[in-house]
Amino acid sequence: MTADDLLARHRAVLPSWMPLYYAEPIELVSGEGRRVTDAQGRTYLDFFGGVLTNMIGYDIPEIREAVERQLRTGIVHTSTLYLIRQQVELAEKVARLSGIPDARVFFTNSGTEANEAALLMATNHRRSHQILAVRNSYHGRSYAAMGVTGNRGWSASPLNPLQVAWLHSGERLRGLLARLPEADRIDAAVEDLREVLATQTAGDVACLIAEPIQGVGGFVHGPDGLFAAWKKVLDEHGILLISDEVQTGWGRTGEHFWGYQAHGVTPDLLTFAKGVGNGFALAGVVGRAEVVESVPAISFSTFGGNPVSTAAGNAVLDYLLDHDLQANAARVGAILADGLRAAVGDLPEVAEVRGKGLMLGVEFVRPGTGEPDPALATRVFEACRAGGLLAGKGGLYGNVLRMGPPLTLTEDEAREGLAVLVDAIRSCAAEAVAR
Ligand SMILES: Cc1ncc(COP(=O)(O)O)c(C=O)c1O
Repeated sequence: MTADDLLARHRAVLPSWMPLYYAEPIELVSGEGRRVTDAQGRTYLDFFGGVLTNMIGYDIPEIREAVERQLRTGIVHTSTLYLIRQQVELAEKVARLSGIPDARVFFTNSGTEANEAALLMATNHRRSHQILAVRNSYHGRSYAAMGVTGNRGWSASPLNPLQVAWLHSGERLRGLLARLPEADRIDAAVEDLREVLATQTAGDVACLIAEPIQGVGGFVHGPDGLFAAWKKVLDEHGILLISDEVQTGWGRTGEHFWGYQAHGVTPDLLTFAKGVGNGFALAGVVGRAEVVESVPAISFSTFGGNPVSTAAGNAVLDYLLDHDLQANAARVGAILADGLRAAVGDLPEVAEVRGKGLMLGVEFVRPGTGEPDPALATRVFEACRAGGLLAGKGGLYGNVLRMGPPLTLTEDEAREGLAVLVDAIRSCAAEAVAR
């Protein structure tokens, strides 16, 4: 069967609102380490990892063997009505790593469900359905998760079980607080929070949900310390803090294990997904026992915490810690970030090279205007593919190239990918000038 046949069949039977990357979509048929091969036999270096989810890489023996061991027992599923050794072991690890004292863990199948569960806990704990969320956020595709998503392009319904008030993100480039000096942005964001509380809520708000670095939003973030400054105000009202670490968790930012740690504050609830299963459906919420235990009825996930996913999760976390991949993210991420800044940071089409560790973005604009240039971002994205590199796209205006490679990326692979990126950005920017 040709790729075209598969594309036609895909389009005939799957919904069009579930987009495919690239003008000529790719079917990936095998992978090893940080490389994947498509149905035509073309190999790519993968800097997006299935949206930051293949966190360790492809076909990692330790993870494959852990899953195969579980499969050989004959037990793929039992439901959480029975004791699951792998689930208990993983919960112990996640609780310990979370930095949250006396933590409890609830496993789900996706980041959406994790956030839904966190919102369930917070709203029950506070007996309030008022929520603070952040502009340009993405938290998932259920009604509540879409309800706290501040990105119109990813919010497919106005129906909302929550009452949501919106905060400025404090990011550097866009929005009302942009371009203020770092310290002033924190003060302005805190003032915004106080004003929103006083003018758009009844005061008894359940929680603030926020991503330490906005993923879909294009890897933008407020100044370090912002969450702590917000939390001081939240604490005056007993409002809880949920840190959505679906993209920022497990050492990806290099400098810390969790994104929240850049802010000098511990959240009440933390949600995780994507990388922890290295591709197996595994996600969850970890939080203070008192808050997690506020759920007043049975709440059960048929597949959440299943033996296969949690066997994968245990192997992933053991691998991550044994190989100190957080340190690797810091070291290899710096090669990429420094290399990009040196080679393309001065182009008028590049508004910003940003990010932390192995979570890096390049934002494209029309020179002189600061206007987003999604067409240029798309051309660079296609040129990377042509050069043998898979990257991602994002940002509120679709004008950000995103890199979130496996945390096992080597220095040589970083340099190889960097060369493709620089070439793609420079040649597409030059073409844009010639147009
Ligand atoms: C920060 C964040 N939260 C939640 C989600 C939703 O996760 P899922 O797609 O697993 O439901 C995503 C997905 O991209 C995300 O980036």
